[in-house]
Amino acid sequence: MMKSGMGFLPPMGWNSWNTFTWDINEDLVKNIADIIAEKGYKDVGYEYIVIDDCWSLRERDAHGCLVADPAKFPSGMKALADYIHSKGLKFGMYSCAGTHTCAGFPGSFEHEFSDAAQLAEWEVDYLKYDYCFKPRNMDGELLYRRMSLALKNCGRDILFSACNWGADGVHDWIRSSGAHMYRSTGDIQDNWGSIKNIAISQIEKSAYTGNYCHNDMDMLVVGMFGGSNNDFIGKIGGCTHTEYKTHFSLWCLMGSPLMIGCDLRKADEETEKILKNPRLIEINQDAEARGCYRVKPEPQWFQTNEVFILVKVLQNGELAVGFFNLSDDRREISLQFWDLGISYASGRKLSFYDCWEDKDFGTYQERLAVTVDAHDCLILRGKLV
Ligand code: GAL
Repeated sequence: MMKSGMGFLPPMGWNSWNTFTWDINEDLVKNIADIIAEKGYKDVGYEYIVIDDCWSLRERDAHGCLVADPAKFPSGMKALADYIHSKGLKFGMYSCAGTHTCAGFPGSFEHEFSDAAQLAEWEVDYLKYDYCFKPRNMDGELLYRRMSLALKNCGRDILFSACNWGADGVHDWIRSSGAHMYRSTGDIQDNWGSIKNIAISQIEKSAYTGNYCHNDMDMLVVGMFGGSNNDFIGKIGGCTHTEYKTHFSLWCLMGSPLMIGCDLRKADEETEKILKNPRLIEINQDAEARGCYRVKPEPQWFQTNEVFILVKVLQNGELAVGFFNLSDDRREISLQFWDLGISYASGRKLSFYDCWEDKDFGTYQERLAVTVDAHDCLILRGKLV
């Protein structure tokens, strides 16, 4: 895996929000860091441990500084950063472009440069930056530029994770603001409909993702099984293993950052297998970080926007090809190789490897038709031969 510079590839890690929301503390975060470091997650690329909203006191101190809630983080943020760094991992925190965070804690509006300095002092490596309580008529683009500049000048490498839920045409201006990733949708929920809607909404935005500024389709719900303490995220709670596998595959092919959102202390074997699939992660972490293109399957009359093929061109000339059936019925999905730029006249074939089954899938010329169960997918890596 070639990495070059902060934010070059889609960031990978864990974030506290999906499962724990306000109920966070330093023991939990340390526990998760231990698991990431010791149970093989770090080995496949997960590195940022991110505390989301609800970590601070309700008021700044007399000097205008943010204060970590001593009941939740009695040792303070620098000590927590030290612990996470001692595991060879990186530490992320959260603030907001508005006056308050979404949960009503102090935001960084008009405190951008001093908050960035404070984060650097705590040795933070990543900042998620939300969009609640933005004063009306304040320009959001300007506020992301501000914090980006503050971070780039705080004396420490801090990855900037913008989170304005896809508002204000963010994909048009976020890269030039300096952010390394940007949330492109509203909050994910731990149910199939939410996963499906987010994925479909971003297919046409594929051209906007790439090295140093990645389209963040929100934290993963893989392995949550309805386990959030937040009614909104947990609504109609939980998916099947197949649905989580398809969710992970979509996020990998579409180049989204991979931020785990489940309680890793309780992850079952199947969840671990999904989150640590090295072949899927390799596709997500391909050095060129190209967005994928969609091929609508033939025949035309059969199309729904829930059945499609996503293709990601990889640095070494191979193709990641995902056959996705997000519909509720089993479907045959056929791919004509002319849609990939392979003419019959070229005499070239595709030799495929099945990234979930971890085995050869055979060599095909001109076309491949597969049958995919409802809510399932088939992810192949194709090599021209
Ligand atoms: C939302 C954001 C979530 C989470 C939450 C915290 O705006 O999209 O991912 O950070 O705020 O209050």
